Amino acid sequence: MPENQTVYMPPQPFVDKALMREPLVYKQDALDFWEDRARELDWFEPWRKTLDWNPPFATWFAGGKLNASYNCIDRHLNTWRKNKAAIIFEGEHGDTKVYTYKDLHREVCRAANVLLRLGANKDEVVTIYMPMIPETVIAMLACTRIGVPHSVVFGGFSANALLGRINDAGSKILITCNGAYRKGRILPVIENVHAALEQENTIETVVIYNRVNRDPELVYGRDYLYTSLRANASNECPPVPMNADDPLFVLYTSGTTGKPKGVVHSTGGYLTGVAATQKYIFDLKDDDVYWCTADLGWISGHSYVAYGPLLNGATMVMYEGGPEYPDKYQWWRIIEKYGVTILYTSPTAIRNFIKWGDKYPQKHDLSSLRLLGSVGEPISPDAWEWFHRVVGGGRCPIVDTWWQTETGMIMLSPVPALTPLKPGSCTKPFPGVSAAVLNEEGNPVAPGEKGFVGVTQPWPAMLKTLYKDDERYVNTYWKQWDKPYYFAGDGATIDEDGYVWIEGRVDDVINVSGHRIGTNELESTLAQHEAVAEAACIGVAHEIKGQVPVAFLVLKEDYFPTQTLIDALHELITEQIGKFSQISEFIFTAELPKTQSGKTIRRILQNVAEGNDDFGDITTLANPDSLEDLRKYLGNKLL
Ligand code: WT7
Repeated sequence: MPENQTVYMPPQPFVDKALMREPLVYKQDALDFWEDRARELDWFEPWRKTLDWNPPFATWFAGGKLNASYNCIDRHLNTWRKNKAAIIFEGEHGDTKVYTYKDLHREVCRAANVLLRLGANKDEVVTIYMPMIPETVIAMLACTRIGVPHSVVFGGFSANALLGRINDAGSKILITCNGAYRKGRILPVIENVHAALEQENTIETVVIYNRVNRDPELVYGRDYLYTSLRANASNECPPVPMNADDPLFVLYTSGTTGKPKGVVHSTGGYLTGVAATQKYIFDLKDDDVYWCTADLGWISGHSYVAYGPLLNGATMVMYEGGPEYPDKYQWWRIIEKYGVTILYTSPTAIRNFIKWGDKYPQKHDLSSLRLLGSVGEPISPDAWEWFHRVVGGGRCPIVDTWWQTETGMIMLSPVPALTPLKPGSCTKPFPGVSAAVLNEEGNPVAPGEKGFVGVTQPWPAMLKTLYKDDERYVNTYWKQWDKPYYFAGDGATIDEDGYVWIEGRVDDVINVSGHRIGTNELESTLAQHEAVAEAACIGVAHEIKGQVPVAFLVLKEDYFPTQTLIDALHELITEQIGKFSQISEFIFTAELPKTQSGKTIRRILQNVAEGNDDFGDITTLANPDSLEDLRKYLGNKLL
């Protein structure tokens, strides 16, 4: 929390036309508020009870029936939006494609019919391993049309990470593609799939979209090209009415153990929370051109690329690649080309732009922008100010949105016409959300004190449970306090005005470029190498990525820290998890500092990794010798 806080009042021209501009909305009863929001969706059957709360299990809108793909597509077809652009896709090669709502309807129906023919049913999860292309959204919506939960695995995950998620979900059908364009190269998507499926797995059928015009090798009887399956599929497929509480999807996220958690989201509650936050936080209107740069493989891509915009009948831009390909003008070129009005991105991207320099955004006409958003990590006041001034031309409110895979929807955020902004703060809970910064006892902290982010009342898009693991759900999120409060795992402070300032994770999870990685996952991967006796990973601050992992390694006897070993360990991380979680530095030591009970003292490692030779209180240290190598390392580093 900075000493001097600047406050930006909502700009009047923005306020005059905003969708949510009545401050009383913050005073409305939460359940009434969410009922009103649920009514903005189309239901086949109304719900009987808004909330059934049996802590920590919630059922939202019990008795109600609806369908996600119907709400994202069909309900717009009876309006003028029928031929409105839903997705404007820009490929890395400058190829473009527009899907109207009518086009989406046809393609989603066809894909749903293909899935039905392949035997997809609501008791099984379909895994989707695809890049940033509209066909990924089509595959997701096709699943929801027939009531089958999907599990999208981020395209940057390795074959092994994919395999683990397929098997945990027990998927029999995998939807993927023959490759993807990334930074001018072709990503080996189908090759990863084949590598994964060489090991024991539950998959019976693989459906392969064509993105890169290459003929993939097909395993007879298992692999099918989507184009040939689509050819015989009908354009009509009735949406299946789903119970509000039926699972809509599973999304794996890193936890504090090596095993990823399958976060399960419901249909009615999730769609209600996402539709409302999308509409009111982004002030999303029919003439907007909305662009969220997140990948579909993460929750931001699920909630604010796939579901949120389509539920609201919006026009969105989708870009296949990253911000530096073909050159560093790319994002600004896209904003100018399509007249993007709302840009939702990450602090990592913003820090990159700052480093590259103002000339890139300044070369393009960005005057169409009217609202900016940030998500994934704390944004520093400096980065916020830069985003506001250079990209937003000083006229666009910025919504700094705090939320998680588990919360499904944005929880803490300004409502742009109502909330004065303070750079670096995600401000306050959204109407209908009860979140607070709590102390160890579960009471709100006083201004200036540190505490933990907790959610004190259920919210509609909350996770239902962890896939087939209610026990881990209860233990991970609901045991921090003796009260039925959700523990988010983030530390924060609150200021005199009740504004929340997020400090970051307080568990063994690090946030690399907005991607959550469990240090345990890295450690158990490194420990698989024959040379490694013990590994401990720590997140350290990084100017662009926010945080990067540093690994402390104890080698087995007769093994030495050579470049060959380091290369092999990098390779192992890439193979088992994915390149994006690469270790930034290896620090070799004869022993890790431990307590009497044998627990690694991570605080000391944190200091070492940050180049700090003051180890603080070391009275609990059982093996003082362990500090020798660490001091030596620091000595060399500080020279
Ligand atoms: C963690 C959740 C939500 C989509 C992307 C990440 C951090 C998220 C903010 C923000 C500060 C933030 C938290 C949170 N985080 N948004 N606006 N300010 N920190 O989803 O992978 O589930 O990660 O991201 O630490 O716990 P995720």
